[in-house]
Amino acid sequence: MKGQITASLGFFAKLALSQSVIYSGSGYGTYYYDIQHPQSCGQDLSVANTGNVECSQFIALNLNQINSNNLVAMNHSLIASNLAQYCGRQVVVSVNGQPSSTPFFIGDGCERCGTGSSTGPWNPNGAPGLDFSFSALSALNSNACNNGHIDISWQVLDTTLYNFDTNAPGQPEGPVSGGGNPGNGGGSTCTWAGHCQGASCSSDNDCSDSLVCNSGVCSADSGSSGSTPPATCSWEGHCQGASCSSDDDCSDSLVCNSGKCSP
Ligand SMILES: *[C@@H]1O[C@H](CO)[C@@H](O)[C@H](O)[C@H]1NC(C)=O
Repeated sequence: MKGQITASLGFFAKLALSQSVIYSGSGYGTYYYDIQHPQSCGQDLSVANTGNVECSQFIALNLNQINSNNLVAMNHSLIASNLAQYCGRQVVVSVNGQPSSTPFFIGDGCERCGTGSSTGPWNPNGAPGLDFSFSALSALNSNACNNGHIDISWQVLDTTLYNFDTNAPGQPEGPVSGGGNPGNGGGSTCTWAGHCQGASCSSDNDCSDSLVCNSGVCSADSGSSGSTPPATCSWEGHCQGASCSSDDDCSDSLVCNSGKCSP
């Protein structure tokens, strides 16, 4: 179990222990598609949704087929140089230094993100950054629609959230089972991306929120203690299920049956 206070303090220390950052930077977030709301910010993004993603090379998958608003596009030149390295990897996106808990993953290349100066400034034809779904971008910063771009920083981790035929050849293409469903818009997950139910762990501290580490996998606490509330009766400690040696040890009308107070 992990307290919420340690969550922010321990975040990067824990990343350093269990996950490596394979690419990071700062720049600008923009949007180019939206599966759930193709009509957004006065634009029709439905054609963009039919575009094939760069990470699926052999079986052409388009954004609609991947069906997740958490797919992110990165520097096209860089991803094209090593699809296996970047595709499907988790991206922690921060706004004003605050990491988002949305489990973003790399799935596509972004032309604008690959040209221009790697230190900015903003230039619609070339500036560093990532390209998002509109819903995800506006959840990160409500100015997304008005400004068209927002300031972000990012860390791509070596954690795989999505299997493409480029990064996981031979595997079925789709969300990594047990690795946290990439989801649509990040509503159904936990507060510590990559540490949700099904993620691998070595102790409870590796698991988000109230999840516990059970046989190396973050799991909901389903231990026997606490699953049935203790029975109440007029003589505390001598209620149903309490151990006894005679009926006199049991409250009210309970009787001692095989060493346990029973109805
Ligand atoms: C994109 O990646 C290429 C290859 O690593 C690099 O040369 C270029 O500077 C990057 N572009 C930006 C805008 O960061």
